[in-house]
Amino acid sequence: MRQIREAWGSRFGFILAAAGSAVGLGNIWKFPYIAGENGGAAFVFVYLICIAIIGFPVLISEILIGRTTQKNPVGAFDALSHSKFWISIGFLGVIAGFMILSFYSVIGGWTLGYVGETLAGNLSNFHNPEEAGALFGQLVGSVTWGVGFHTLFFATVMFIVIRGVQGGIERSSKIMMPVLLFILIILIIRGVTLEGASRGLAFLWVPDWGKINGQSILIALGHAFFTLSLGMGAMLTYGSYMSKKDNVVSSAAQIVFLDTLIAIMAGVAIFSAVFASGLDPAAGPGLIFQTLPAVFSSMPGGVYFSFLFFLLMAIAALTSAISLLEVVVAYFVDERGWSRKGAALVFGGSIYLLGIPSALSFNVMSNMTLSGKTFFDIVDFLASNILLPFGGLMIAVFTGWIWSRTAVISSLKAGAEHLFEVFPAFEGIWLVFLKFVAPILITLVLLNSLGVL
Ligand code: PHE
Repeated sequence: MRQIREAWGSRFGFILAAAGSAVGLGNIWKFPYIAGENGGAAFVFVYLICIAIIGFPVLISEILIGRTTQKNPVGAFDALSHSKFWISIGFLGVIAGFMILSFYSVIGGWTLGYVGETLAGNLSNFHNPEEAGALFGQLVGSVTWGVGFHTLFFATVMFIVIRGVQGGIERSSKIMMPVLLFILIILIIRGVTLEGASRGLAFLWVPDWGKINGQSILIALGHAFFTLSLGMGAMLTYGSYMSKKDNVVSSAAQIVFLDTLIAIMAGVAIFSAVFASGLDPAAGPGLIFQTLPAVFSSMPGGVYFSFLFFLLMAIAALTSAISLLEVVVAYFVDERGWSRKGAALVFGGSIYLLGIPSALSFNVMSNMTLSGKTFFDIVDFLASNILLPFGGLMIAVFTGWIWSRTAVISSLKAGAEHLFEVFPAFEGIWLVFLKFVAPILITLVLLNSLGVL
């Protein structure tokens, strides 16, 4: 007998879980450092435009495909098209989930490790970022530390996913997301009340247009995908547990709003503190693990803020990681008749194993490179820079060109009747973005990733 498919307990639960997926290392680790490297305010401005013209329309279509079919990415494309080509696009999403989770869990592990290091008192005696950087190098250089925290992080992800959509993902998001917001508010208050914080705020608000070029626009566009969890079916899968009565457009708007708000808040908290300490905002990927610990060390009561900050990152990473595992699990449960627990253990276990060489890329495997890239870099690049934009392109093309227009629009309107009464032009505008604007811009990003542009 086939079991009834799982569903969210409420629309609010869905919003928190989907925002949990969107808000992750992308917002707290990556966004601040790429904004720092690409000129601050001007970059933030370009990023906001990318979110509005590409991220939002594609997010609507991903959620819509899921809600309409009530299936995982493979089953969804099968139900809507019956075509082998589109089924394989769904399958690419499952593969991307596999790959992203494997390396994501390694960085997620670092955040847990840093919570532990703070508690052990090892992060409070730095005089400059070089000292913090030396400890960082020593920690990630240790096989037991790197693999150990990857294991702990992954076990937590599996534990939540095994408990199911409502009892695991929704329930944990309802606790973790408010805690995340609360911690972020405390950190912002701390950051902006430091002496010299205003220079950090100016960095985020006063644009330097000279820093904007083709390359930084493409970085902003690529990041818009990653940060909204687009292009691999995570939002599609979460949408598939949604009721047909719920409004997809307003849900997508709320998810975009929360994701953007939290990225900007993280930027404010981090840059006000970095500038107040006179450190370098363009420190790159080490900004969080090397610059910030030095900032915390120089602050009275810094250990508490350090603890809160790394806890915040760990929460953000966990709620995203569970959405990645859920895509893989949903596929095996829906299409292959696996039990949730069996799928989570077996395929989660395989993803965990694939993550080990990523963890080792920072120590014993650091010299094993292919055109300068470690195993970690290769998996990250293939999944984030190739598979996600390609998946996003295909989702836009599918909704704009393949799915029958009457079916798309009637699906979109279900639950959003009011919006279409007050704003009937929305339908046409959305379709123009999906048919033309998104495919053209995403193709540019892809060509850039492939080194053609
Ligand atoms: N959106 C997550 C982040 O910003 C990453 C992610 C990508 C999660 C794709 C799920 C799917 O960190």
